Parts: sequence; C-alpha cells; structure tokens
Amino acid sequence: MKTIVYYYSLTGNCEKIGLKIASRLGCASERIVEKKKRPSRSFLKFINGGAAMQNKISEIKALKHDPENYEQIIVVTPFWAARPTPAIRGFINHYGNKLRDKHLGLALSNLGTDPEEAFQKYRNLFPGSIKTISFTKAKNEWTDPVQDELIEKFVTDLAADT
Ligand SMILES: Cc1cc2nc3c(=O)[nH]c(=O)nc-3n(C[C@H](O)[C@H](O)[C@H](O)COP(=O)(O)O)c2cc1C
Repeated sequence: MKTIVYYYSLTGNCEKIGLKIASRLGCASERIVEKKKRPSRSFLKFINGGAAMQNKISEIKALKHDPENYEQIIVVTPFWAARPTPAIRGFINHYGNKLRDKHLGLALSNLGTDPEEAFQKYRNLFPGSIKTISFTKAKNEWTDPVQDELIEKFVTDLAADT
C-alpha cells in the first residue's frame, strides 16, 4: 500500500518518531511546516499552548508530496494543552478532502497527560476512522527499545486493517 508519513514537530520528538515509522515502512515522509515562526526554546515554547486552546488553524507551507497520491496516510504530532496542534488543524483544513477514503494512522507524543482527550479531539478532525498510538515520556515510551516495540505494534495494527 502506497504510504506516506507527515509529521509536525516543534522540538524534534515527533520528527524522530515520524522518521522511524517511515523507515520501518520503507515509505516517504514529509514535515508539515507552519508559515508562522514559533518560539521553541525553554519555557517560552509553552506560550504556543494558547493557540491550541483557542483551536487556532495555522497556515502551512504547501506539501511537496500530494496526499492524493497515497493510499495510506500517517500523521505524527504532539498534542498541546491536550488539544490538536494548530499545524495539524491547518493540514486538515487544507488537505482534509484528500484524506477521505484513505487508510489513516495517527501517532501522538506527549510528556505525561493521558492522551485520550487529545485522541478524541484529533479523531473529530479526521474524515474517517483512524488507527492511533501514543508515545508518552512519563511512561518511558520515548526510549528505545520501548519506542521500537510500540512502532512495531502500530505497524501491525495498520496492516491488520488492509
Ligand atoms: C505548547 C505546548 C503544550 C504542551 N501541552 C502538553 C500537554 O497538554 N500534555 C502533555 O503531556 N504534553 C504537552 N506538551 C509536551 C509535548 O506534547 C511533547 O514534548 C512532545 O513530544 C513534543 O513534540 P515535538 O518535540 O515533536 O514538538 C506540550 C508542549 C508544548 C510545546
């Protein structure tokens, strides 16, 4: 199945996870880039949580890989304030129609909050059902080999549906 991993990452965790998933699947990957510059250092980065709480939709740079050309689309993103990131809202706003009838996967990373609230909000954004997985720092799921095991489980879950 022709697959692509799109990832949004402010501080690098989702980039690492997204590239690992793409490498495991041997598929294409592309970073989702906001037009707006955001603070990404120290505590200043948490200012961005306000935009998530207000359900802001970022403008994103045009993707080089058109989602239309893929059958399976995997999105990797953090959640902010237990909500979708403005970048992913921008991605869905712009490309959501092209995600219809596709096989969809979503991987979240976070520090410690139970991801269920964020999952539900992301599920409401996507057109159609979506396989999910989360990587939580507090549960040590960011460390290898735990991370690799979770990626393996995610890949198996995705394949079970096809
Ligand atoms: C603005 C902001 C809000 C965040 N809100 C939460 C949160 O509500 N719960 C949580 O567990 N982690 C939260 N985090 C932590 C990130 O989800 C986590 O560090 C994630 O792995 C970052 O991914 P990235 O490095 O790819 O940007 C927040 C981080 C930022 C910058």
